[in-house]
Amino acid sequence: MNHLDALPANFRWGAATAAYQIEGAASTDGRAPSIWDTFSHTPGKIDNNDNGDVACDHYHRWPQDLDLAKNLGLDAYRFSIAWPRVVPLADGRVNAAGLDFYDRLVDGMLERGLTPFPTLYHWDLPQAQQDRGGWPERSTAERFAEYAAVVAERLGDRVRDWCTLNEPLCSSWIGHLEGKMAPGVTDLTAAVRTSYHLHLGHGLAVQALRAAVPGARIGIVNNLSTIEPASQSDADVAAALRADGHINRWWLDPVLGRGYPQDMVDLYGVELPVQDGDLEIISAPLDWIGLNYYFRQIVEDDPTGAVPNFRQVPGPNPERTAMDWEVHAPGIEELLLRLTEEYGVREIYVTENGSAYQDTVTSDGRVDDPERTAYLESHLAACARAVAKGAPLAGYFAWSLLDNFEWAYGYDKRFGLVHVDYDTQVRTLKSSGERYAQLIAAHRARA
Ligand code: NOJ
Repeated sequence: MNHLDALPANFRWGAATAAYQIEGAASTDGRAPSIWDTFSHTPGKIDNNDNGDVACDHYHRWPQDLDLAKNLGLDAYRFSIAWPRVVPLADGRVNAAGLDFYDRLVDGMLERGLTPFPTLYHWDLPQAQQDRGGWPERSTAERFAEYAAVVAERLGDRVRDWCTLNEPLCSSWIGHLEGKMAPGVTDLTAAVRTSYHLHLGHGLAVQALRAAVPGARIGIVNNLSTIEPASQSDADVAAALRADGHINRWWLDPVLGRGYPQDMVDLYGVELPVQDGDLEIISAPLDWIGLNYYFRQIVEDDPTGAVPNFRQVPGPNPERTAMDWEVHAPGIEELLLRLTEEYGVREIYVTENGSAYQDTVTSDGRVDDPERTAYLESHLAACARAVAKGAPLAGYFAWSLLDNFEWAYGYDKRFGLVHVDYDTQVRTLKSSGERYAQLIAAHRARA
């Protein structure tokens, strides 16, 4: 039996991207800056001082990129819609040209037999919203829902599958606590308020989508990690519980109707700006949960550090990606089973999974990336094991279709199944992409 036979016959095979990481065309057709334009243009914030001004120039080259997705044999394509193209400024005015772009893109997918899976927020808050206080303020959640309604009205006749937020952990903890992502704030209160208003914005966007798109199938995407204590000492075991709260439970519990985990509320010591009815809005029923998985975290107590007082230590597996992330495929199986068994989730997508390696184009124009191929195969096999044990996994989106702007790491870190030469914008399918296409075709033939 092939190791992927356990995946269901109607399994959706996909790949994912995000607007700021690929589109470029940063000031074209009425797009206004987002917090990532501001951040990436601040010297010293991004490796090599890279920015997303041009990126993969996907804004102009999307037909070719959708052809690449189609030629891989994908069923579905996860992309994100840039809020700063659709409602660029704080005045609420809709930018028709920005919306037209996504209209064409969705039609382009449908023409190629690709199911569109748009994400409404993949970190690119309009700078004008940031200037009004950004996510620490409740009004940003309300503006987000208005923008969601605009997009839903326009695309809802053709798009059924929707994702509200991508990895709110990163916007909150990395963007507002560690300051390593836009907007580069380092303040626990701002970070906790950000997380709360992202959740509220999610819930309000769910309402807007349900109102505009009958039959919509809506989910949220979280990046989760398996957490292990570095030792069995009481201090490290307690640190692992805090890490689980900070990385996993804070993101799952409120959305899945359990409220915010009290141990973390106490630990942060920041009053949540809850108003009557908010928790019901935040926990509106969803159709699926998205899991982004990259690595596990082994943690130890860090009593003199900042709340939540843990730090990550290197994992034992010497295999590491170019991000210095430990390769640990069993983690994806564990998380799928945790969502199934502990949280009772009834439909899951792996909305991202992938690896960065130093790829080079050989003189005969090939990109051979055996490590990425091995990563893909081992993680898909782990997904299939989870399915065999009962996880309701409906699809898998490889991160990423294309090499792209890897946020604070710039263009140096390549996650694509397709190599991008940023000088020429030439795309080259990597051997991992060829392998992915084979696996998809083989699964489809057996299904
Ligand atoms: C998750 C994010 O959603 C995506 O934007 C990023 O490029 C990948 N992780 C890899 O770090």
